[in-house]
Amino acid sequence: MSEFTQSKVHLVINEDIARMRKDYREQGIPTILDEGLNLLLLTLKLKKPKKILEIGTATGMSGICMLDVCKDAHLTTIEAHEPSYRTAKANFEKHNYTNKVTCHFGDAGDIIRFLDGKFDFIFLDGPKARYYDYLPELLRLLAPGGVLFADNVLFRGLVECEKPPHRDNTIVRNLRAFIDTLTQNKNFTTSLIDAGDGILIAYNNE
Ligand SMILES: C[S@@+](CC[C@H](N)C(=O)[O-])C[C@H]1O[C@@H](n2cnc3c(N)ncnc32)[C@H](O)[C@@H]1O
Repeated sequence: MSEFTQSKVHLVINEDIARMRKDYREQGIPTILDEGLNLLLLTLKLKKPKKILEIGTATGMSGICMLDVCKDAHLTTIEAHEPSYRTAKANFEKHNYTNKVTCHFGDAGDIIRFLDGKFDFIFLDGPKARYYDYLPELLRLLAPGGVLFADNVLFRGLVECEKPPHRDNTIVRNLRAFIDTLTQNKNFTTSLIDAGDGILIAYNNE
């Protein structure tokens, strides 16, 4: 993303959340970058989903922002790191979203296999090396006309790199397979966007 494009990102979010996101980031706790969050909230405003699934709750920052713009939605969110899961639950409660959120603690790969029903929006923001493994279950859970929004798909630019560092080979190979599977699938209208850490948006045409 160019400096010019980045300079035009003006996030409109709750002030308390903006402050908390900054504090968490300073503590090294991950949360989606501003440009990714801006695009996520824009997509949600257009789609107006009723049922959202999030992989990777962290401390609930993206979850609260999503619920703030989707007043009629219920969020199901999954986190594997127990302190983050507990902090997220407290943050959802503080923002009066306890009744609008189902928080699962555990490995997303295990939990999604047991979810049923359809989601009209899936925000994939968990372990990057697992996106490709999760894909069959996520597509099973995505409603016709539903949107899959995945963050970090370009993984610090390494996915586009001819020779990524050896230690990142697995994650890069898996992310490339994830991107190729969706961009080559005629049942999906997919866009790969060079914003933030790389965003993929896929619309289920079925
Ligand atoms: C990039 S952070 C999520 C940020 C959050 N969506 C936000 O924007 O505020 C990714 C999260 O995925 C969690 N995670 C990692 N592996 C996981 C797994 N196997 N199952 C569920 N969550 C996992 C991490 O603990 C981390 O909190």
